Amino acid sequence: MALFQALVHDYGNRVRFPMGLWTFYLLNDPESAGFVLSHHAHGFRKGPGLTNDNPLIGRGLLTVEGAEWADARRRLSPVFRPRNVMAMRPGLEEALRRMLDLWAQDPPEDIEAAMMDLSLFLVLHNVFGASDLSLAAIRRLTEDVDWLMRFFYHRSRTIWRFPYAFPFNRRYHRHAHRLIATVRAMTTESRPYVTVHGHLAADSLTRQHELLTLTIAGYETTGHAMAWALFLTATHPAVEAALLREARQQVFPTPQTHPWTYAVILESLRLYPPVWLLSRTPTRTVPFDEGTFRPGDILLISPWLMHRNAHVFPEPDAFRPERWLGSGPPPPYAFLPFGGGPRRCIGEDLALTEAVLVVSRVLAQFHLTALTPPNPPVFGGLTLRSRDGLRMRLQPRTE
Ligand code: HEM
Repeated sequence: MALFQALVHDYGNRVRFPMGLWTFYLLNDPESAGFVLSHHAHGFRKGPGLTNDNPLIGRGLLTVEGAEWADARRRLSPVFRPRNVMAMRPGLEEALRRMLDLWAQDPPEDIEAAMMDLSLFLVLHNVFGASDLSLAAIRRLTEDVDWLMRFFYHRSRTIWRFPYAFPFNRRYHRHAHRLIATVRAMTTESRPYVTVHGHLAADSLTRQHELLTLTIAGYETTGHAMAWALFLTATHPAVEAALLREARQQVFPTPQTHPWTYAVILESLRLYPPVWLLSRTPTRTVPFDEGTFRPGDILLISPWLMHRNAHVFPEPDAFRPERWLGSGPPPPYAFLPFGGGPRRCIGEDLALTEAVLVVSRVLAQFHLTALTPPNPPVFGGLTLRSRDGLRMRLQPRTE
């Protein structure tokens, strides 16, 4: 992340740099982002990171390409349409209530870890309809996914890669088998809420990859977003007071009823976008600006860097949720927490619905005290996270 920051600082918003056998481009202006992600999206495919040879999620929506992707996107889109997400509200409320009751007995200290558990619980409960998972089962799953994501991240950065099937990768197999077994078991239960069933691929391996993709893509990102939002709120008392006033209304929290809460979510996504790096590689020669992108080049667009552009977001390093109140939206492709173009996040509406609900209900029930000092160090793996956790004290409110 420091390298990217230095490159943009020293060479401007469009930087070409060789690294090993590859030519990289770091693109940090909204026009380039729009060009690659949207207007010429057909000339690019996903770059390195999670790719379609991944043995757990390679056939899922995040990584498939071309006609296969178009088919999967068409099948799965209805699940995440606003009307369906609205139908998930009672399930979200119920699942959240169960988790908050547990926290009232045993308040968590690391809000990032707690939000991961909660966020996974919400996805499994509402998208898969698996409503009877214990906290211990959820923790095991977050442990598995966390380990696997770190493994994939390190693997994506090494040149010499043992095939996944190698027995050396014993820990990989243990976590992967446990994750697959749990997701398989869950998908045979009866489900009371709107779910993905009926929208998944017909063949069983693709179905499994699609389920794992939604689990992985849907929970870590949302968990981090909610954790940062709560942490930033706890470190800004005036903002906390505004959110608390909204949280005391007896309605389901939405961006319309809780504009400050929504603004805090957007501002947290701006400062700490969970997907901090998007990558693409050209499928053919694509003329751009005064040069050409060629197959094999790696194009990087970092929402994290883009969101700190002072021309678009004055005082870019400051947490100022009020910038989202009243003024219009930022220019196209300047705010990219959910990506852009045809491969924009399919779960955006669900993620924002969950985040507004969770932040508001947690604040209504608990007084938050941040134990981690402001501006904690971050780590940019496959997702952006705090390096050492976000520690907070949650005390049940008495007033
Ligand atoms: C705050 C939460 C979230 C953030 C920040 C986020 C971010 C993103 C981003 C940036 C992309 C585009 C990646 C690229 O272009 O390379 C993406 C794609 C995707 N996201 Fe999310 N996401 C979130 C929540 C969710 C949820 C809740 C789900 C589902 C349960 C989900 C499922 C997906 C899927 C399946 C894709 C691939 C879409 C495609 O390629 O057609 N995400 N997400």
